[in-house]
Amino acid sequence: MSSKKPSEIPVNGISTPLSSKHTINRRQFMGATMAAFGGALVSGIPNISYAAKGGNGGGGGNGGGGGGSTSTRNPLFIPPVVSASNAALQAASSTVDVGGGSLSTALAYNGSMPGPTFVASLGDYASINFTNLLDEDTTVHWHGMIAPSYQDGLPFNPVAPGTSRVYEYPIIQRACMNWYHPHPHGHTASQVALGLAGGFLLRDNEELALNLPSGAYEVPLVIRDVELDNSNNIKYSGNSSGFMGSKFMVNGTLQPRLEVDSAIYRFRVLNGCNVRVWRIALSSGAPFTLIGTDGGLLETSTMVGTIEFSPGERLDLLIDFRGLPAGTTIMLQDLNEGWDLLEFAVTRQVNLGDTLPTGTLSTIETLANPVVERNFSFDGMRQINGKTYDMNAIEFQVPMGQTELWRFTTGGNAPHPIHIHGASYQVISRTGGRGNMVFPWERGWKDTVLLQDGETVEVLIRFDGYKGVYVMHCHRLEHEDNGMMLNFEVI
Ligand code: C2O
Ligand code: CU
Ligand code: CU
Repeated sequence: MSSKKPSEIPVNGISTPLSSKHTINRRQFMGATMAAFGGALVSGIPNISYAAKGGNGGGGGNGGGGGGSTSTRNPLFIPPVVSASNAALQAASSTVDVGGGSLSTALAYNGSMPGPTFVASLGDYASINFTNLLDEDTTVHWHGMIAPSYQDGLPFNPVAPGTSRVYEYPIIQRACMNWYHPHPHGHTASQVALGLAGGFLLRDNEELALNLPSGAYEVPLVIRDVELDNSNNIKYSGNSSGFMGSKFMVNGTLQPRLEVDSAIYRFRVLNGCNVRVWRIALSSGAPFTLIGTDGGLLETSTMVGTIEFSPGERLDLLIDFRGLPAGTTIMLQDLNEGWDLLEFAVTRQVNLGDTLPTGTLSTIETLANPVVERNFSFDGMRQINGKTYDMNAIEFQVPMGQTELWRFTTGGNAPHPIHIHGASYQVISRTGGRGNMVFPWERGWKDTVLLQDGETVEVLIRFDGYKGVYVMHCHRLEHEDNGMMLNFEVI
C-alpha cells in the first residue's frame, strides 16, 4: 500500500516521506544538511555508530551564554526512522552507546535504544516481522494503536524465546505519536526498564496541511529514568512498588544536548518511565506551545509553562527558539527532581519565516451522553475492584459504538497512570487530589491519564475499532505486572 519507501530520507530527526504531498521545502533541506548524515548512516544500526561521529560540526556556537558547557553533555541520540510497511524488529540483549561513546549492555530493538521510530500514514498497512531473541517470553504492544486484539501484543499472546511472528494491521486512526514496548505478563516492567521501547508516528493529511516543523525540526524525545551498575550497564532494580532510577536518559542518552537552529521545533515527547511522573518546564521561563496529546492534535494550541505527565503519556510540543543568538542555551527541566533533562544549544541563526500555529488545528468530536457508567477502583499495588489480573477471565463486555463513562478512583499508592487498549477516550473531569480540573495536556484524545491519590477521574470512551479482548491497566509497570490489570471484551 505504501509507495513511500524508496524516497524516504531518514534524516537526523523524523523524516517525512517525499512522495506525500508534503514535498521537500527549505526547512527540510536545511534540516537534512544540519543533521549531517546521521540518520542515513544509523538506519537500522546500533546507537554505537552514532557515537562515532559524536563531536558534530555545530558551527561556532561555543556556549557563550553561560551554563552550557559543551564538553560535559552528550549529543542527543535520534533513533533511526523506519517505515512500518514492511519492517523487521528484533528484541535482543545489545550494546548501546549511552552518550559520548560510553557503552552499556541493555535490551534493545534492532540494537537501538530507543528502538527505531516507526512511521506510517492513515490508510497504510503496518507489517512488522518480530523476532524474540531474549531468553524469556515477550510481546510487542503498540501503545495507542487501534489494532485487532491478536495484533495488540497482549499478555495472553506471548512470543516465545527464539521465535518470530508478524504483527500486521491497517492504520485506521488520525495522526499521533504512539509507541511500542513489551507487554508479557509479569515481565513488562523489567523489559521496558532494561531498554525495550520505541516511538511510532502516524501521519495524515490534516496534520501535513498544517506545515508543522518537520525533518530535523521534528524530534522525538523519549524521557525516562535509569539505573546503571558499576560497569555502566543498564540494570533493573525494581520492587513491587516500582522502579525509580537515580539517573535519567533522553532517547537513551545520558546528560544529552541538542544543537538547534533559531527556529521553531516540534518535539514528540514520551514519558518512558516505569513509575516516575515528569513535571517539565524550560529554564528560560518561556512556555511550551502544546499542540497535541496521546491521540493526536488538539483543536487549538495552548501555551503552558509546566506540564506534568505520567508513564505512557505523550505530548506534542512546539518550542520557539526564534531570534535567539548562537550561544544561547536553554534547559528542559524536570521540576519534580530538579533535573536538567536536556540542553538545547542554539548554534545557528536562521530565518525561516516560520510561525506558531494560530487558529484551528483539528476538529475533535466531543463524546457525550454515555449510556453506561462503570467504576474502577485502583487499590493497593495489584488490584482493580478488589481483583488481580486473571489472564483467562473476561471481566465485562462493551458493545462496539456505545459511549460509556468510566470512573477511576484509588485508595492510595498513586501515581496510577490509567491506560486502556482498543480505543482513545476523552477526560471529562477530575475531582479531589490536584484539584477539580482537567489539565490542558489532558484534552483531546487520550489513552493514558494520571490518577493521583485522592482523585476521581472520569472519561468518556467509545470503541469504534475492533471487537475482541483488550486490557485496561495501571501503567506504573510494576503495578501492571503485579496484577493491576483486567481483560474486557468489545462485542
Ligand atoms: Cu503501554 Cu498496555 O501498555
Ligand atoms: Cu497500550
Ligand atoms: Cu498503579
